[in-house]
Amino acid sequence: MLDTRANALAEALTASQQRYSAANPISAQRFRAAAATLPGGNTRTSLFYSPFPVTFASGQGQYLTDLDGHTYTDFLGEYSAGLYGHSHPAIMAAARAALDHGIALGGPNRYDVELAELLTARFPSVELLRFTNSGTEANLMAIATARAITGRSAIMVFDNAYHGSVLSFRGSSPVNAPYPFIVCDYNDVDQARQLIDRHGADLAAVLIEPMLGGGGAIPATAEFLLALRDASTEHGALFIMDEVMTSRLGAGGIQGLHGITPDLTTFGKYLGGGFSFGAFGGARAVMRNYDPTVSGALAHPGTFNNNTLSMAAGAAGLREVFTPEVAVAHNARGDALRNRLNGTFAEHGVRMQATGLGSIIGLHFQTTPINRGRDVVAADTERALLHLEMMARGYYFARRGYLALPLPLEPVDIDGFLSALTDVVDEFAAVLR
Ligand SMILES: Cc1ncc(COP(=O)(O)O)c(C=O)c1O
Repeated sequence: MLDTRANALAEALTASQQRYSAANPISAQRFRAAAATLPGGNTRTSLFYSPFPVTFASGQGQYLTDLDGHTYTDFLGEYSAGLYGHSHPAIMAAARAALDHGIALGGPNRYDVELAELLTARFPSVELLRFTNSGTEANLMAIATARAITGRSAIMVFDNAYHGSVLSFRGSSPVNAPYPFIVCDYNDVDQARQLIDRHGADLAAVLIEPMLGGGGAIPATAEFLLALRDASTEHGALFIMDEVMTSRLGAGGIQGLHGITPDLTTFGKYLGGGFSFGAFGGARAVMRNYDPTVSGALAHPGTFNNNTLSMAAGAAGLREVFTPEVAVAHNARGDALRNRLNGTFAEHGVRMQATGLGSIIGLHFQTTPINRGRDVVAADTERALLHLEMMARGYYFARRGYLALPLPLEPVDIDGFLSALTDVVDEFAAVLR
């Protein structure tokens, strides 16, 4: 019985892939040509999916157009960096004005302080901060800061967490930065306390995504985060919240939702207005170690730390578009969509569920509870089928079932997404139920 369903599912996917390949000849050709200079035609691992990814020609508002001329409504939102949608007028105006005044000025510019002020106002735990060029770099700097300040070496992280290209704990990654990591199960208070007690004397920091993003959109419980905060303080380790993905999930990120004060926070994604961005910051006592007017200060000289485009666009986004009120309203829309999705799955009797928080949603092929990364059922064939069939219906999100809703989405887009998903679930009921 199971084999019959698995065979039918595999056949459905093969047919779907054939339709996809036939519909996207220009992207297919571009993918083959790209392999001559990029390994596997790819320069960003998360952008590959089988049989080949479509290549985008342009984006406008909530829409994307590919090289073969298809238009998609964008529910991926550039893995959360595309919160503002494509070519938002406020972002475009700020970026154009910055370009008009020179790109790389080689000194402080008129935008960096404003963005720092906007961020410290949103995140009261961040008294001082430093900009970087990516979330990966922000996390590497936060880890390095904790080790330098405490004189300790170990970093506690969580199974299935993702903190960047060289900080991935989704399985073992041979390209990870060579720090002594202690890996704990997510949302397991007892295990975390035991590990922190055991390694406390050499623990420089506890680093956590307050919602596993790439690991399946699995929020940490408030109890778990508070326990980590307390245990870190008890043992003199820094508590670092990686809000690269989650800072958008409330007016002041997840730390604001739960009233938690980390020692350091890392940022990235949409906060550069859609340009490359990262930042790390926190308590004055920690961050003043980077004050170059003090002798013996730590160094952090990155060439593009205050690049004008990211600074100007990021500041315009927070000032004019993603105000605290908009953050609350947008996340309420995400919660409403998640509820509707779960209602649809129950109504149609499919073994699926939507997880996440606010405007970030994870789609999974199971009804069993998901509290840790390893609770997620892989369901690679189901995920591939859903992904290609939703693309065929004009909706784009990540193969793994990850959605980050961009601001320009209209109610009609959300209704359309739900009805396309219902259509897929009905058409493939025999293999998805
Ligand atoms: C939670 C989290 N931390 C860090 C990163 C790394 O950011 P970047 O891709 O800008 O290096 C990501 C990226 O997806 C992320 O989701």
